[in-house]
Amino acid sequence: MNKTILVTGGAGYIGSHTCKALAARGYTPVTLDNLSNGHEWAVKWGPLVKGDTGDRALLDDVFARYRPSGVIHFAAFIEVGVSVREPGSFYRNNACSTLNVLEAMRAHGCERFVFSSTAAVYGTPRQVPITEDHPQWPINPYGWSKFMVERMLEDFGRAHGTRFCALRYFNAAGADPEGEIGEAHDPESHLIPLVLRAAKDPARSISIFGTDYDTPDGTCVRDYIHVCDLADAHIRALQFLEDHGPAAVNLGTGAGNSVKEIIDAARAVTGLPIEPVIGPRRPGDPARLVADRALAGELLGWTPQHLDIRETIAHAWAWMNR
Ligand SMILES: NC(=O)c1ccc[n+]([C@@H]2O[C@H](COP(=O)([O-])OP(=O)(O)OC[C@H]3O[C@@H](n4cnc5c(N)ncnc54)[C@H](O)[C@@H]3O)[C@@H](O)[C@H]2O)c1
Repeated sequence: MNKTILVTGGAGYIGSHTCKALAARGYTPVTLDNLSNGHEWAVKWGPLVKGDTGDRALLDDVFARYRPSGVIHFAAFIEVGVSVREPGSFYRNNACSTLNVLEAMRAHGCERFVFSSTAAVYGTPRQVPITEDHPQWPINPYGWSKFMVERMLEDFGRAHGTRFCALRYFNAAGADPEGEIGEAHDPESHLIPLVLRAAKDPARSISIFGTDYDTPDGTCVRDYIHVCDLADAHIRALQFLEDHGPAAVNLGTGAGNSVKEIIDAARAVTGLPIEPVIGPRRPGDPARLVADRALAGELLGWTPQHLDIRETIAHAWAWMNR
């Protein structure tokens, strides 16, 4: 099978780490990114096509020119809060433009599709760790936009034989240990970079939203998965789709860290004092979101390698201070 892979959103955080991992394993990643949130400097391991997944003529041109044997689809808007205020832009970019990619794939005979889904498709968990058969009832338009794509994929699989693997990430974290790329979101809403920014610049505060959750220290627990482990899972998913599929699997460590644990670990890594501001709970924040990762192990042979949260934070800190 030819080893050219179309990576939409390859100039973004997880996409760029996946492009690096693809190149290391002999693939040629072709990035299609409109640079709305990505960075040209992050595209180092293959060509960059600047453009939008909503542009069907451009997609036809890219498929005809590069003849990719698979697509890894990261391109999406990711800010949950913005999705509540501007749902239309999320449904258009995350759902309609993905439909565009699926139709272009079909027209060009490309059958393998690896999709960036999210733990947000589950909504408020009924039980933790969350297994893939947990009911799906998202609590914001971002989660619904990803849920809709998963439904489209089921139908494209049944009707047209599209082979897909939906990867439901929990919280992506860390950075390339070699320091070539890392997280550079603007605005930033992820806990670890926000804590590290507060360490670097005491003028920036870090808030803890709620200390009365039913967790060991009262703060919310999330499952932080190293971005290089995510990248590895995408390559395994592509290989899995050579003769299997469809599948939807969780990608998380299976363990969780509380907000207070992250702040303590960041203090240890940076050697700097970090004084959080304690605030009230935010609506819609579940106490614990932790993956059951057994299925990813079984289907993809995937086991995360970076399970020490201090190491993950140290990689993010090194990137921030590069
Ligand atoms: N970061 C996380 O913790 C996390 C968790 C769960 C799921 N995800 C999903 O993973 C994917 C990647 O997330 P990320 O953190 O790397 O985000 P990111 O914003 O860094 O990357 C997304 C990239 O897609 C590009 N893009 C957006 N819309 C586009 C379009 N219509 N056409 C072309 N390019 C477009 C952006 O410019 C950006 O480079 C997203 O689909 C996101 O929903 C992320």
